[in-house]
Formats: sequence, C-alpha cells, structure tokens
Amino acid sequence: MIEYDETNRVFHLHNGLVSYALGVAPGGYLTHLYFGRAVRHYHGTGREHHMSTSFSPLPAGQGDDVFGLNDLPLEYPGSGFGDYRVPAHEVAQPDGTAVTDLRYQSHRITAGKPALPGLPATYATGDLDAETLTVVLADPVNGTEAALAYTIFRDRAVITRSVVVTNRDARPKVIRKAASASLDFTAPGFELIHLSGSYAKERHLVRERLTQEIRILDSKRGASSHYQNPTFALVAPGTTEHTGVAYGFGLVYSGNHECVIEQNDRQQVRVMAGINPAGFAWNLAPGASFQTPEVILTYTDQGLNGLSATWHRLINDRLIRGRYRHHDRPIVINNWEATYFDFDEAKILAIVAAAKRLGVEAFVLDDGWFGHRDDDRSSLGDWVTHAQKLPAGLAHLSQVIHQQGMKFGLWFEPEMISEDSELFAAHPDYRLAIPGRAGSAGRHQFTLDFSREDVRQAVLDQMCAVLDHTQVDFIKWDMNRNMSEVFSATLPAHAQGEVAHRYMLGLYDMLERLTTRYPEILFEGCSGGGGRFDLGMLAYTPQIWTSDDTDAVARLKIQYGTSLFYPLSTISAHVSAVPNHQFQRVTSMALRGAVASSGVLGYELDATKLTESEQAAVREQIAFYQTHRRLLQYGRLTRLLSPFDGGDTAWQISDDRGLEAVVVYARPLAEEAPAVIRLRLFGLDANRDYAVLGQRVGGDELMGEGLLVPLPLSQDYAGVQVYLKAVTDDDE
Ligand code: GLA
Repeated sequence: MIEYDETNRVFHLHNGLVSYALGVAPGGYLTHLYFGRAVRHYHGTGREHHMSTSFSPLPAGQGDDVFGLNDLPLEYPGSGFGDYRVPAHEVAQPDGTAVTDLRYQSHRITAGKPALPGLPATYATGDLDAETLTVVLADPVNGTEAALAYTIFRDRAVITRSVVVTNRDARPKVIRKAASASLDFTAPGFELIHLSGSYAKERHLVRERLTQEIRILDSKRGASSHYQNPTFALVAPGTTEHTGVAYGFGLVYSGNHECVIEQNDRQQVRVMAGINPAGFAWNLAPGASFQTPEVILTYTDQGLNGLSATWHRLINDRLIRGRYRHHDRPIVINNWEATYFDFDEAKILAIVAAAKRLGVEAFVLDDGWFGHRDDDRSSLGDWVTHAQKLPAGLAHLSQVIHQQGMKFGLWFEPEMISEDSELFAAHPDYRLAIPGRAGSAGRHQFTLDFSREDVRQAVLDQMCAVLDHTQVDFIKWDMNRNMSEVFSATLPAHAQGEVAHRYMLGLYDMLERLTTRYPEILFEGCSGGGGRFDLGMLAYTPQIWTSDDTDAVARLKIQYGTSLFYPLSTISAHVSAVPNHQFQRVTSMALRGAVASSGVLGYELDATKLTESEQAAVREQIAFYQTHRRLLQYGRLTRLLSPFDGGDTAWQISDDRGLEAVVVYARPLAEEAPAVIRLRLFGLDANRDYAVLGQRVGGDELMGEGLLVPLPLSQDYAGVQVYLKAVTDDDE
C-alpha cells in the first residue's frame, strides 16, 4: 500500500481506491504531489515545475535550481522563509524567533496504525488492515522535529494524518501552532461545503465557490460547537449528490479547532486542520513531544453520497469502539420535554408504563434528578439523588423500570458546576476562572477545570457511586455552556496557554475510564443538543443527541446536513409532542415518525398524554422500526432532494446490495395544483422486481421512471415513509 521510489524520492500511498503522493524536493522540502483517484504507479510526470515568482524570496542555498516556497505545494509548511500562505506550525524559541525550517530527515513504513496517546482516533483492526508512513522533518538549527504520520487503510478511500512535534535540543520551546495536516492542491474552481449553524440549528449545509481568499472554519468555545463543525468538503464544480469529485476532511477533536482553506493567486488551495492556535501555547521542554489530533481525508468521484458512504463506513467500522460498535441501539423515551424539572417518581413511572405499552425499550431520566435541582440554577457537581423528587432512591426507580422490561438511562453533566452546590462550597477553585475576577456564568453554571486530575476524580467518584449501586444501561452526557476565563488554578503562569487542550485530554481520559469501567453502558453525547457532534466524541459516545430542536421540519435540514459526514447510527432523533416546544408547529405524526426513524429513533414526550390515535401511530412506528432497525441504523443513506434547495426533502436508506430500502419524502408546505411526485431511486437491482405499496415494480422502473410517492398533497407538514423489498422466488 505504501511505496517509496528512492530515485525520485516519492512516496505513494495507494490501495486501488485512492492515491496520495508526496515527495522530497531539492533542499529536502516535503512537497504535496497528488491526492485523488487511485493510480497504479505514480510516475510523477505531472509534477509541477518549480516556480520562482516575484516578490517571493528564495530560500538560501538553492543554487541555480531556484524555487520560492510561496509557490511550492507543501505538506507541512512553516513561515518566515518566503511562504506567505497560512503556516501549519509555529514554534517559538528562547532567542525570540518563531520560525522553523523543517526539512526531510528520515522515514519509516510500518504495518498497522499506532494509537494516538491520550487522543481519540480511527484504528486498524490488525497489521493487514492499514499501513503507516512516518516522515520525520527536522530543523537542526533550532532543534525542532516534526514526525508526520500518514495511514492508508486497505479497503477505504481514506488517509489519516497526525503529527508529533519533538524538542530535540536543550532549549525550551513553545508550540504556538501545530496543525494536524496541511496540503496544497492545484484545484481550479473548487467549491467549499461546510456545516455551519447555531444552537437548535446545527450543521446546516453551506456551499460556496472559493476565490483568492482565506476561509477559516473555527471554534474558540472549548467545544467543537453548534456553529462550525470540524468537518468540511472540497468539491469540483458541478459535483452533485450522485456524481463528481469530492474530498472530505474531518478533525478528530472536540475542542477549539481551526480549519483553513486558502486559495492563492495561482488557484492553488491550501487545506489545513488542527487545534485552533488562538489562545494556544504549549511548552515543550527538552526531549518532550506533543501529539496533535488526527485529521481524516477522503476522496470520491461518486458525489456527495459517495463521500458520505466512505465516512459512514469509516465511523461505524473504525472510530466507534466497544460493545455498541455495529450494535443495535435501543428506542428510548426521554422525559425532558415531557416534564422538564418538574417530576417525581409517580410521574416518571406513569410515563414509563405508558411508553412500555407502546413498545419503547428504554427510559432516560433527564436533568433534575440530583442535588436539589428544581431549575437550572443549582446542584451541578452534586451527583446524589434528589431526595424530595425520588425518596425511594434511584436504584429503586431503576429496579421498577427493569421489572417492567425496560432499560434505564440517566442524564449527567459531569463537566459543570453550579455556584449553588456542595462541590462549589467545598472547592471554589475547581472551576475555570481568573483569580480576582467574578467569572462569566453560562446557563447559571461554570465549567469545571477538567485539565485537573483531582477535579476529574472528584466527579468520577460521585458518578461511580451512582453507577455501582444503580442499574444504568445508558448515559446521556451533556455539556451546556461554552468555556470562558480559561485559566487553571494549579498551573503556573507560563502554562496557561495549555489549559484548553489539557481540558480536552482530561475529558477524553474521563470518558476512557468510564467506558472501560462500564462497558455495557451505551453513552449518548450531547451539548445543548448538537454542540459537540464530532469525531472525537464519537470514539466514546457512539451516538449523539443531534439537536434540542425536535421540530420535524427543522430536523430535515439538521439531519440532512449532519448526514454528510455522520452515519445514521450516530444521529439520535426523537418524536416530540405537538405543538412543538421550539416552534409551536403542529406537524403530522407521519412526518415526525419518518424523520426520527431516519437515525436512532426515540421519543421526547409525555406518553401518558397521547390520544388513542397517536398511540396507535406510535405503536406502528415502533413496530416498523424494530422490524427494520438494522437498515435504519446501519443502512446506506442516499440523499435525493435537499431541504437547502428550498423545496421537498427526500432520502433513501438501503441495504448494501440494494435489495430493500426505506424511502422518506417530506413536503413542509402544500401547494396549489400539485404535480404527482415521481422520485427516482438509486442503487437498486435493475434486474429484480420489488414489492412496494402493495404492488410489484421493477428496480429498473424505480430507478428510471421513479417511485410514485403517496404523499398527502393538500396537507402542510406532510411526510411519508415507504418500504420496498426485492421479490424473492419464495414470494412468487
Ligand atoms: C440540554 C440538552 C437537553 C436537556 C437539557 C437539560 O439542553 O440538550 O436535551 O437534556 O440540557 O437541562
């Protein structure tokens, strides 16, 4: 999979699905050569002529074969030697300089894929599953070394990259920036697709043409954020859902990130991703190393659906770990929108009993079960049962729920502290705060300093005390504010620039310890809905609450955008009551069911308050979901009509061979004189007939003429879900 051509000094990573080539240019510069469609042998004849352009100084010692760094496609560019594009790294030296001139020093090729110490990452299942190239770059003048790791998987159009920066001499250094990966494409006309949004409006898909400019997709919030997801795509002009070249990029990290897309005057596009350098300063003592997070890079010529297929498989197969990898996810009911903080055991058990009759499989007790938490002003940090609400205790509640044949889940917000809490009274220094300043509250709460081991241990001990005595099958791990006053009481002044990243390492450590100690528990990530829906969290929490917005119409866009990178098995989606709590909209049960079933189905309502006909509809939804759970959680998603185009939304979820599928079609607003809806399907077997809506139709017809969609045409907020299956000989 990885070849080194010693004569031309070219590395070629390839597997029949993708090729990635890099080379060592005269002077030892590591250059980017090619990333894209697989080639058998990289001859490198298309290698760019080295250029020297006006106003770009030439590095010293190049003789007559001169080229300026400003135009050289590079793999891990620095600054200060005539490359004026955004640098990938910056290391400050005691002499006041902050420029590093990294040149090729050595390389090695190893079987498999090493883990990234302390950080989540994709993994190989064995030495045959992947191969890793490590290229060591060094600057002998200032003693900085960067080891660039590139992994290629055997049967995926995926490359992963990460970097280890090491201090190789006796002088202390400070890393101001260390991107995880950078590469320079020659890509005229590229368009950028990114997932932007807001609270309750996460991951809306934005597509824009690049010009000569610098685009930065970032977060400085201490979380990957609702606002800008650390995933994005570059696509060739004209790429659609079904055809065309698309490159995908994603940072496996949940904290401050920076993704840079810079197009220069020659239509070269520099793409870079890593920890956000804003506020970041990492001390590197002599001999010490720093590991960056991982970046995943993918290629397809099968359009955006092709891109998604690669990511969905990768995340399900090689990022999600533990018992719930490829495992069926339960249908839960959560009491948040049903009760908010106002509940007691009787109310909960009534919801449980009603939900059980509908077929729901697990009950999740949300916020408000601990301390004296009756609203959002108190008790975060005190993970002991709220004695007034649950006098018989949590263990008892769980036991009764289990006796009814349901699983029990519990909400925690481990990273937070309320001022009104016993933890705060005992340890006011446990929060992130600047000494002498009051501290900015968010939702009346402060962020615990998870960079500190003692703080994590204090929370972990409390959580274990609950989990060791209560049968808990599911944890919803929430995080309801973003960081401010990022300062740790126990670190010296010069190390304060490390706090935000140390926090993330602490968070991952805590998640690692909990998931190891309780392997049977299914963890669901959450951050005010989808404020931390990222690849880092998915390594510990195999599914994530996608958004606090449960309105089915709003969810069309949120889930459509989210699905660009994230598979259905990760997208937690609940049917909620109408009028909807966020928008007051009264959408049909059919639409709510179809949207929430396109992911990990659950309920977010008071099951005791459903009408007879709603109960019947929910029973039917659940029975359908249980029958087709595998397909709906792990099937191949094909997006057909985008809600971002302003009209109807449609997608199809099929098995790998295209022998069965669920088609979802939604039309938020009815129209006068509507046309019949014919929806062309994809990926079916053209030579088979399918049973659909009580009829027999050819796969070729469904992909050619299309499916006649039985949508109620005179109704707003209409949605349908259609199941089709190839007819087998037994059916004849
Ligand atoms: C966040 C979550 C909600 C709910 C509340 C509880 O907003 O996203 O689902 O758990 O917190 O306070």
